[in-house]
Amino acid sequence: MAVKTPPPLNTDRRFPDHMTSAHALLLKAKRGEKGNTTDKRYAVPAFNVTTFQGINAAFRAFELLGSSGLLAFSNSALKHFGEGDPVFGLEVATTYVRQRAKASTVMVATHLDHGDYISAGGRKVVQAAVQYLTSVMADNSTNKAEKKAMPLADNIALTREVVDMAHPVGLSVEGELGVLAGEEDEDTQSEFSTYTNPAELDRFLKETGVLMLAPTIGTMHGPNKGKPGHKVKLNIPLAHELLKIANAINEEIVFVAHGASTLYEHVRAYALDQLKQLGDPSGAAQKWRDFVGTDWDQIGGLIEAGFCKINTDTENRQTYLAALLGAINSNSAKIDIRWYDNICTDALTQSYLQKLIMAGDYGVWHEPKIDVEKFRFDLGQSLKQLLEMCRR
Ligand code: 13P
Repeated sequence: MAVKTPPPLNTDRRFPDHMTSAHALLLKAKRGEKGNTTDKRYAVPAFNVTTFQGINAAFRAFELLGSSGLLAFSNSALKHFGEGDPVFGLEVATTYVRQRAKASTVMVATHLDHGDYISAGGRKVVQAAVQYLTSVMADNSTNKAEKKAMPLADNIALTREVVDMAHPVGLSVEGELGVLAGEEDEDTQSEFSTYTNPAELDRFLKETGVLMLAPTIGTMHGPNKGKPGHKVKLNIPLAHELLKIANAINEEIVFVAHGASTLYEHVRAYALDQLKQLGDPSGAAQKWRDFVGTDWDQIGGLIEAGFCKINTDTENRQTYLAALLGAINSNSAKIDIRWYDNICTDALTQSYLQKLIMAGDYGVWHEPKIDVEKFRFDLGQSLKQLLEMCRR
């Protein structure tokens, strides 16, 4: 029996002020659109936010750079916002983001990261996310209960259910084909991985109708993306092969790189220095030494292959933690939570600025307020000092 054509994304949907679907931002990135000009392709980093401070830091970075902003919420982040209830978390976080966006100078999208339409709990969150967010991921590639890949037909059928629900009301949908390894948090982990099979791609894209696809080409979630001391090598030729297939179906399809965190050596060095001064009370220094990120040259290769959404969580967590260690080290008797909070939020802002600049996501909605060439990510300096050095 012929499969009914999937519903197209309703691009007439108007979201609250300064908010749009993730796909609208990614399409501009794939086409290299900034302001009224068209230049080289860039990527939009999707920052996983877990706290109000994370949201504040992201908005600050977007507005300094005139970037397209993409805020991603995982199930566990939503539980954190909602004191254990992800649906309440959606309401709480969205209310806050809408207020920030209203006063913003840029356009932002809110995206459900790793929503699954397999489990009853996952379906409930995806359905609620369609009411609150501007984009959702339908990650049905893995049967987590049985620790194996979902059969292709089941992945397609479940993803299609989400497209049928989300596209008519203007939310873009991200599907996943292939299994991504690694551990990001308790709700996002897999002990095994499989590359995306190019022979399955045409059918997956045509039958689900997704415009955003997360293929697996060797990236991993979490801080241990490979053997300590070894460089992560992604399958860039496979990425190009997949892009060719997707473009032949619809040039508006964009790819998403999960596990795109890099490891900033200066952040590692800063954390190790702080741990040394603190006497490494929990024996964490070796873990920091063993962390492996995806090097930037690999991510750059992915952007060329149509990966316009690069998911970034771990590197920002590392930056936050390093800054917290530094704050505790410099004063452990400051009886003012805001002091520690501000140091960590400023560090997060630096980390976000760095990734946005690396991805080329600046000058999209207005000229950057800083000279991006002069920006130097450095936890040894305050954000204020750094911005003064590169203020236009
Ligand atoms: P990292 O663990 O590399 O930050 O990846 C995050 C991610 O892919 C979220 O979906």
